[in-house]
Amino acid sequence: MSGPVARTSGSRPDRLARRYPAGVPVTVRRATEADAAGLSRLAALTFPLACTPRNPADLLAAHIATRLDPASFRRHVVDPACTLLLAEDGTGGDPVGYTMLVLEEPSDPDVARAIRHRPTVELVRFYVHPEHHGSGTAGLLMEHTLTAAAGTAARGSWLGVSEENARANAFYARHGFEPVGRKRFHIGDAWEDDVVRERVLRTS
Ligand SMILES: CC(C)(COP(=O)(O)OP(=O)(O)OC[C@H]1O[C@@H](n2cnc3c(N)ncnc32)[C@H](O)[C@@H]1OP(=O)(O)O)[C@@H](O)C(=O)NCCC(=O)NCCS
Repeated sequence: MSGPVARTSGSRPDRLARRYPAGVPVTVRRATEADAAGLSRLAALTFPLACTPRNPADLLAAHIATRLDPASFRRHVVDPACTLLLAEDGTGGDPVGYTMLVLEEPSDPDVARAIRHRPTVELVRFYVHPEHHGSGTAGLLMEHTLTAAAGTAARGSWLGVSEENARANAFYARHGFEPVGRKRFHIGDAWEDDVVRERVLRTS
């Protein structure tokens, strides 16, 4: 996995490419099937960061093996309802962040009651390599992700985030995702509570 010090990319013009204070030239693009293995490695590393200590290790491992494997990423890339974006630092290593949007009506009744804007697109995943936390990579990824979300039919976007994930909640709040409800789910022997957050994408 590549770290925060990277050589200048320059391999591909990108209107939103930026050089961040740490000197990391990060760019964002849509993922392709060729990115599946790198995304899977990044996802296995970052998924546990969003989980509470109560998540049983065996369920965590099963989720990584069956939902974050390369085959799953290849399916997401070709799914017309999904938008998979990745951030890379130009070193040719694995991605340093990724997001996934899914354009569909939420199946969870609590979420369906809570959100106000339809059609809606769920920001299902938002993960950045820990070496890039606080670097601006997440902000760049969010900027591209919101642009991609606005390019779908959706008028609003929602996400669920653990109420204990203070860092992610602060980040989402800064990017306009307001708390609109809660979502409860059972994992192992414990109940988990997610904050449901939503932001408008377009008013017209
Ligand atoms: C969530 C994530 C994408 C945000 O990226 P980031 O680079 O860490 O975000 P930033 O540093 O720009 O912003 C984080 C905010 O939390 C604050 N913060 C940092 N540590 C904190 C903590 N322990 N408690 C509360 N707030 C914290 C920062 O000061 C910053 O606040 P600000 O917006 O007022 O400046 C990234 O941390 C991540 O990938 N985390 C692991 C995976 C995850 O939890 N994903 C979300 C799943 S729903």
